[in-house]
Amino acid sequence: MSNSESTFPVCRVLIASTDTKWREQWLTRLTEAEAAEAEGLRGFRLQFATVADRDSLLEQARLDGELQGVVLDGADLAQETQVVRDLRALRSEIDLFLALPAGSVTEIAQMEPVDRDEPRAGVLLRRLRSAIARRARTPFADTLREYVEGARDAWHTPGHSSGDGLRESPWVADFYRLMGEHVFNADLSVSVQELDSLLEPSHVIQEAQDLAADAFGARRTFFVTGGTSMANKVVVQHVLGDGGQMLVDQACHKSVHHAAILFGVEPIYLPASVNAQYGLYGPVSRARIEAAIDSHPDARLLVLTSSSYDGFYYDLKPLIDRAHRAGMKVLVDEAWYAHGYFHPELRPCALECGADYVTQSTHKMLSAFSQASMVHVGDPDFDELRFREHLNMHTSTSPQYGLIASLDVARKQMSMEGFARLAQGMAYVRELRAGIAETGRFRVLELDEMLPGELANDGIRLDPMKLTIAVADGGGARALQRTLYERYSIQVEKVTHNTLSVLVTLGTTRSKVLRLLNALQSLAQDAAIPEAQPRPPALPPLGEMRCRPREAYFGPTEQLPLVDETHARNPQLIDRISADQVVPYPPGIPVLVPGQRIGAEVLDFLLDLLHSDTGTELHGLIRGDAGPQLRVRAENTGSA
Ligand SMILES: Cc1ncc(COP(=O)(O)O)c(C=O)c1O
Repeated sequence: MSNSESTFPVCRVLIASTDTKWREQWLTRLTEAEAAEAEGLRGFRLQFATVADRDSLLEQARLDGELQGVVLDGADLAQETQVVRDLRALRSEIDLFLALPAGSVTEIAQMEPVDRDEPRAGVLLRRLRSAIARRARTPFADTLREYVEGARDAWHTPGHSSGDGLRESPWVADFYRLMGEHVFNADLSVSVQELDSLLEPSHVIQEAQDLAADAFGARRTFFVTGGTSMANKVVVQHVLGDGGQMLVDQACHKSVHHAAILFGVEPIYLPASVNAQYGLYGPVSRARIEAAIDSHPDARLLVLTSSSYDGFYYDLKPLIDRAHRAGMKVLVDEAWYAHGYFHPELRPCALECGADYVTQSTHKMLSAFSQASMVHVGDPDFDELRFREHLNMHTSTSPQYGLIASLDVARKQMSMEGFARLAQGMAYVRELRAGIAETGRFRVLELDEMLPGELANDGIRLDPMKLTIAVADGGGARALQRTLYERYSIQVEKVTHNTLSVLVTLGTTRSKVLRLLNALQSLAQDAAIPEAQPRPPALPPLGEMRCRPREAYFGPTEQLPLVDETHARNPQLIDRISADQVVPYPPGIPVLVPGQRIGAEVLDFLLDLLHSDTGTELHGLIRGDAGPQLRVRAENTGSA
């Protein structure tokens, strides 16, 4: 074995049969055929093993991160179609082969048939290898690499021309060095036809998208270079571009609220549940969603966020089924859950539950660059031509090729090693939970502590990869966040007044785990921390919608101060209609959206927040010399 081959990843293939002679024969024949192959041709090594029954097969699928293929004996094990279903539920990505006796046919979907008595082992070997190699390919990233290695002269955009515009400059060469030469070499344009076109893909980008659809279990998948912020708008436009009603959780991402403005949609907001003790905003209760579906027969789209930022994941199937029965399409924003399909403990995911459209920020939890997202389609009535047009309306004609390549590579990674990496991540999670509990001062919250009480029986689960760490004695999370950063160079994901959240992703390493645990252990012994911190005021209840967001946003407006001369809430604002979205961050949930009636409670909330020392940002408030102001609909516009 050459040195280079020894670094090739191993792909284990199980030969599963109760027939000892058959499986041992194939083990020997395939192992010999693999050994006889030319070395180093294909970038991975096949290794064969056998299992004699269903339970051992499933056990291996549960444990073996290197398992990439299974050859099921069609004469016995595969007769139980349940085996295939169980295997798929554990590992959607692995390649399944069905060894059929002569004269038999199979109806089992997603299994490649092979001859059980194939005389040439090399035939089966090649089919196995080509199936695995297909997943291990990155058609776009491979072509991009070849192009970059070809060192072509650039006479096209971008103007930095492979970095030549910066490299020798006494002023900006430092930026070139910081980013690295290949960031510039790989920053190409649609003039390079080998690299296909994101707006009209027909070869390498299309192939990469097809592989992504297979990997994520979608009918079709589209790459998006403007993040899930863009993906959500595209889907809302596709389903509701000419207006109409959409049911949407109040805590949805602002891109969905923006889509309502852009496309004249009438949103029916479903109030988010709240856990006031920890400042966590949860999903909408099942009863509320069901009631909204039933009482809005004209709504055409239901939008749910799953998982939430804190990791709450809906029991989606009954909700999606109900929405479908009512004639609605369902968009599930899985911005935070692109990893879910690749580990059985995280499934089922939205597409498996029947969602029509699923948007994912591949960059949030997986290895893609920021802004790289995907839309997965499950809609049986999907109109691809229209969708393409809607997508292109939001897509730059100069997309970043590095982002596209990173989507291709992130998909490959999940398909080849997602299960193993997530299993590793979960081991880190266990280590973190135990180590943090040992500090005595911090602890990782469990689902039942985090979930607002009204959702206790809604079947909601928690993404284990998102850890919410509570600070004992009810305070000090912001101070802790600062100390972790300043003293230990640790940057966490987010904080509330008494919790901090960290994400365990594919990029989490053992040293990061150890450093976080060490830091928390020493902070736990430091009497000065945590210091108490005020709890931000609770979000006011949602006000009534008086007109569509689009009318309020684009119609005639005026600005009114938030406070009067006595610094009390401005009575002139009461009963007016907000023209803007006003969002305290955290939690990032709007307290006003365009078209909403302004009540005293909202104004008191905003004043409380402005006067408090909670560190909460307020987006959407106009600030200037005249003090904070709100933009409201001009009076006498006749629609309130
Ligand atoms: C639920 C949700 N959806 C969508 C987005 C937007 O995703 P992106 O950053 O990929 O644009 C976010 C961002 O935080 C989010 O939390």
